Amino acid sequence: MKRDFIDLWDLTPEELWEIVKKTKNVKKGIENLGKPLEGKSIALIFTKPSTRTRVSFEVGIYQLGGNSMFFQEKDLQVSRGEDVKDTARTLSRYVDGVIVRNHSHKWLENFSEFASVPVINALTDMSHPCQILSDIYTLYETFGEEIKNLKIVYVGDGNNVCNTLIVGAGMFGLKLFVATPEGYEPNLLYYKRGLDFAKETGGEIEVMNNPIEAVKDADVIYTDVWISMGEGEKDLEVFKPFQVNESLLSYAKEDVKVMHCLPAKKGQEITEEVFEKNADFIFTQAENRLYVQKTLLAYIFIEPQA
Ligand code: CP
Ligand code: NVA
Repeated sequence: MKRDFIDLWDLTPEELWEIVKKTKNVKKGIENLGKPLEGKSIALIFTKPSTRTRVSFEVGIYQLGGNSMFFQEKDLQVSRGEDVKDTARTLSRYVDGVIVRNHSHKWLENFSEFASVPVINALTDMSHPCQILSDIYTLYETFGEEIKNLKIVYVGDGNNVCNTLIVGAGMFGLKLFVATPEGYEPNLLYYKRGLDFAKETGGEIEVMNNPIEAVKDADVIYTDVWISMGEGEKDLEVFKPFQVNESLLSYAKEDVKVMHCLPAKKGQEITEEVFEKNADFIFTQAENRLYVQKTLLAYIFIEPQA
């Protein structure tokens, strides 16, 4: 059976841990992934802009010996009304895998149902699994087994990144606090899935509306834009207490690590000052997308198919 990666739960917690641990050896050069994509072509179909996801996947596919083909959705007949399922069935006859960034999670689910090759989610309105798998790797690389004892706090909009971080915390057994303005809480399905996994793994997930209470003694603070791609205008006033600035950081541990999936809107969810002080960690976070996605691709393409 083909292996999709639409949400983190498409792999088991054990498989996700295996990828994270393997990535450490891959990055250190202890383990070589070889060329599992030799002779294979992977299509990328994006309806939204991308810097990190697109480039890290294309470079990673090349390094694994494969060929990547990038399409804006407007280049394909689906933009003129061709059925999504026909697009999925056609592409499956040519390529060995498809990586999709789409405004609609449902579109992606529909596409993957009809594709006979593996489909990877490169971000939808609901989730961003490659990002969060990579971010959990970054924490593992930094803190090792201590990762489970960290207080990780997400501050800001309860968006796709937040939804997936909740599921990731549940699957990896992490302690996660989420602070969003009222009315901008994460999606209930992802929250429930996160809680269900947390029961099995010993993780803790708490969602609240008070950023100061949430960041108290935090080891890690994670934020993302207040307006995600494809969203209309929002009342940003309600987000202001959720800005990651020096004042908010004063409640966290002194050596708190600040994470941002990027792109950042400085002056909104994070100040320029806090961003620059943490730039090295934030760009390591971005760099790790390459290593984690290579390990993921190798896993999806060379592990025995069930
Ligand atoms: N973090 C992330 O997915 O970045 P891009 O939108 O640049 O791909
Ligand atoms: N929440 C952001 C993440 C960008 C990587 C967005 O969807 O625009």
